[in-house]
Amino acid sequence: MGLRRSYTLFAPLYDTIVGPVFTEARRKSLARLPAAATRILLSGIGTGLDVPYLPEGPFYVGIDLTAAMLKRARRRAPDFGLAQASAQRLPFADETFDHVVLHLILAVVPDPIAALREAARVVRTGGLILVYDKFLRRGQRAPLRRLFSPVLGRIVTHTDRVFEDILVQVPSLAVIEDRADRVNGYFRRITLKRLPD
Ligand SMILES: C[S@@+](CC[C@H](N)C(=O)[O-])C[C@H]1O[C@@H](n2cnc3c(N)ncnc32)[C@H](O)[C@@H]1O
Repeated sequence: MGLRRSYTLFAPLYDTIVGPVFTEARRKSLARLPAAATRILLSGIGTGLDVPYLPEGPFYVGIDLTAAMLKRARRRAPDFGLAQASAQRLPFADETFDHVVLHLILAVVPDPIAALREAARVVRTGGLILVYDKFLRRGQRAPLRRLFSPVLGRIVTHTDRVFEDILVQVPSLAVIEDRADRVNGYFRRITLKRLPD
């Protein structure tokens, strides 16, 4: 079963299962969005659980691979620009957005380097990319998370991604904050800044 199929099945349950778990994490991550912004992208917006924590003012664009997830996002945010697309190949010109949100997406997509590169391409120089996800530390043992990742990765999320291995492939980004969050720091709130070329 592919990701689009599994998230289509998961969509009606997503808010009930995932919603309450990450409320505080979303609030803290999105509090990093600077006040002065005109266009912000949520890449892999899902059902739009971030929407209540977004500051008013900018125009928001959301993309997701799964129509059933986007349908729910549309209900929650009828004024957003929403499109079905892949985070690994964004249908936007370079530097279209002031900031990009990558919540619970880098561990999900098959190619997280492509997804991060695309976020770095479409954000303006000096703009922020807000990452919230689960990552192993380099060399961390975590045998079960490594064992099950190939199977879980095909249906819902990878559990053995190492953020530093992804970031090193996207040199136009610098880490400006990296906070340990849930599950002893397995989940992290990371703020990246797009450097000048
Ligand atoms: C764990 S959910 C996260 C959704 C949302 N960002 C959140 O924080 O609740 C992962 C989302 O990634 C979407 N997805 C999977 N592969 C994708 C891809 N290649 N491009 C864009 N979205 C993708 C799924 O449809 C799902 O909505």
